[in-house]
Amino acid sequence: MTRVRNTIMAKPSSLRHRSERAAPTSVGTKKAATTIAVTSGKGGVGKSNLAVNLATCIQQNGLQTALVDLDMGLANADVLLNAAPLRNLAHVINGSMDVEQVCHLTTGGLKFVAGVAGGGAGAGAESRSTDRAFPELVERIKSISAEVIFFDCAAGIGPNVTQFACAADVVLVVTTPEPTSLVDAYATIKTLLNEGYDGSVRLLVNMVESRGEARKSFGRVRDACEKFINFDIANAGYVLHDTHVELAVRHREPFVTRYPKCSASLCVSVIAARLAGARSFGSGEQRSFLQRVASMF
Ligand SMILES: Nc1ncnc2c1ncn2[C@@H]1O[C@H](COP(=O)(O)OP(=O)(O)OP(=O)(O)O)[C@@H](O)[C@H]1O
Ligand SMILES: [Mg+2]
Repeated sequence: MTRVRNTIMAKPSSLRHRSERAAPTSVGTKKAATTIAVTSGKGGVGKSNLAVNLATCIQQNGLQTALVDLDMGLANADVLLNAAPLRNLAHVINGSMDVEQVCHLTTGGLKFVAGVAGGGAGAGAESRSTDRAFPELVERIKSISAEVIFFDCAAGIGPNVTQFACAADVVLVVTTPEPTSLVDAYATIKTLLNEGYDGSVRLLVNMVESRGEARKSFGRVRDACEKFINFDIANAGYVLHDTHVELAVRHREPFVTRYPKCSASLCVSVIAARLAGARSFGSGEQRSFLQRVASMF
């Protein structure tokens, strides 16, 4: 008799629902900061732009938010925020400064910790951050006084990236609709689970041309997760491909502040509202708008 693989037989009800079980209902109600790692398998899918804009959007809506650039070697969130802090994560890694001392406050009130760019003062920090000091570094980062802390991670499934992602309450795996990106997103999710990650894993499809394309892309990764790793991936939402993103990058300003009404900004508001719990956001009209839009996903 042919043996049927357990994973194929798995019914939706028997899937692992770590995403729902572990997800905080509303980050605003937690005392400790909620940590959100933004990661991807394939590079260049928009992680840094999304981390900067989601963090800015949540900060704008009244939750103290921090963003830590954890892309060791190729850190560039400072460019997107037009910030040039003299102190960065390297000072925390080498023990010369406390994490609050390296927090740069943007004009919008976002706390930003610049990363370690290759060849600078933090050269070698990548290897140091993966050694025994890693848990201590993560604890320091988590101790930033904020309600939400974003980690802008590097691409890939190297140990450094995976360690940071595994330390977060929520992992946003970013993909584009490209088949290669979808496959790499699946590989990232699989790696996280193999590493024992038991937080909330959510897929964010970026640079889509339509809602239909977003649905299809999400469906491909969801089906692979169900079939091969028996995992029920949560849907974080999508962001439309929008030329305002590049324009804002050129102006070194988050697109949610430079072009608040562009389609990418509206998509980011919805994802941010869902991450933070729509009730924590805005007041009156703005709140009910976000609640309505968030419920449409
Ligand atoms: N929704 C979008 N619409 C149009 N362009 C976008 C969108 N999101 C990101 N981009 C563009 O994609 C490029 C890569 O973005 P970004 O640097 O944020 O990616 P990344 O995943 O952080 O890259 P890396 O893996 O190198 O860290 C940038 O040129 C950015 O302007
Ligand atoms: Mg990046």
